[in-house]
Amino acid sequence: MDRFDGTPRLILVADLDCTLVDHDDPLNTDLLRFNALWEAHYRHDSLLVYCTGRSFSSYSGLRKKKPLLTPDIAITSVGSEIVYGSGESMVRDDVWTARLDDKWNRDIVVEETSKFPQLEPQPDKSQEPHKVSFFVEREHAIEIMKVLPGRLEERGVDVKLVYSNGYAFDVLPKGAGKQGSLTYLLEKLEIEGKQPSNTLVCGDSGNDAELYNVPQVYGVMVSNSHEELLQWYEENAKDNPKIFHASQRCGAGIIEAIQRFNLGPSVSPRDVLDTENFHAESLNPVHEVVKFYLFYERWRCGEVEKSDKYLQYLKLLSSPLGVFVHPSGEEKLIHEWIDEMGKLHGDGKEKQFRIWLDKVTSSQISSDTWLARFDKHESSEGKVRSCSTKVLLSYQGEKEKLTWMHIHQSWSDDSCSDDQEKWIF
Ligand code: GLC
Ligand code: MG
Repeated sequence: MDRFDGTPRLILVADLDCTLVDHDDPLNTDLLRFNALWEAHYRHDSLLVYCTGRSFSSYSGLRKKKPLLTPDIAITSVGSEIVYGSGESMVRDDVWTARLDDKWNRDIVVEETSKFPQLEPQPDKSQEPHKVSFFVEREHAIEIMKVLPGRLEERGVDVKLVYSNGYAFDVLPKGAGKQGSLTYLLEKLEIEGKQPSNTLVCGDSGNDAELYNVPQVYGVMVSNSHEELLQWYEENAKDNPKIFHASQRCGAGIIEAIQRFNLGPSVSPRDVLDTENFHAESLNPVHEVVKFYLFYERWRCGEVEKSDKYLQYLKLLSSPLGVFVHPSGEEKLIHEWIDEMGKLHGDGKEKQFRIWLDKVTSSQISSDTWLARFDKHESSEGKVRSCSTKVLLSYQGEKEKLTWMHIHQSWSDDSCSDDQEKWIF
């Protein structure tokens, strides 16, 4: 959260399964569209928050399988845990966790719930200190929800019950849940003087309903939302103009909401990449790198014609003296790497080659020079390789464009470095 000073322009709070992540789309088309939009237009001044029912470890597992950007904040286990940052700079919010102990006793919850034979405990990996979860059919859930809170209250335990996806039943401390955790987070930001201009919450199932109750937020239910959420909307939020049911699925529904509520740019660079003019003037280093890698992906996938003119365009973008340091340590002129790239036209088509950039930042380091930094991930035949990348760009006043002066890449810790010959840029 210390990434930038001042107030975030937008806080986007997204559930993951079946909201940002479309499990029916192995190509992750809309997620990648969202990613490019976020990195090009929001990363520098907005906050990305994931808010999921998954435990932190299950969420981490999903991040290995799907091209999810690094969020600024992750709220996991249906609001039971809040984590800021990622990797080595990750910090868990212990103040929040301590609050959840109020009128909570896990052992009593387990004991009282065991008296309902219809409640089938979820696997151990889905159980958390502040979350006791079951599988149960809807009719039974409705009956249990009528009596369980009273029984627990008699024993001094105050709970919140959440039913999701037509089968998942969570017992949480009263103050937890997605609403409790997001409210806490927004209050914390306000105290720190970082109250966002806008907040958009995005969901698809029962445990998301609470998010739309947070005051002032805009909300979208993606088109593929679960019956129980739509029913909640009909009964509770139908007249709220700040909440709507998108006509598109998952990530596409989120982009649709950004547009509908006028929250900022809503056109993904993936939808507008003009390959004929992609080399034309772009004075924003972030847009420049996002566009370049989209072009590169299309070249490798054979989605642009194999023509030398593109290689010439790329050469115009970069300095003839510019050097690219490959993650293997090998150094060559950028123009030489462009020639190498020429040979790989179409080689990624069958392999579903995709590229996405994560954590793109740019800083001005002199009157006419910028340093763009980002993690670059590429996926080919389902295998992901990642590297951290720095690009030095210089503004060439007479040509009115940015020129790539230097590129430096190094493998990310967990990335394999075999098969390096196919790694260009
Ligand atoms: C996720 C969790 C599960 C929980 C469900 C609904 O699927 O893994 O434990 O019950 O979300 O919140
Ligand atoms: Mg979901």
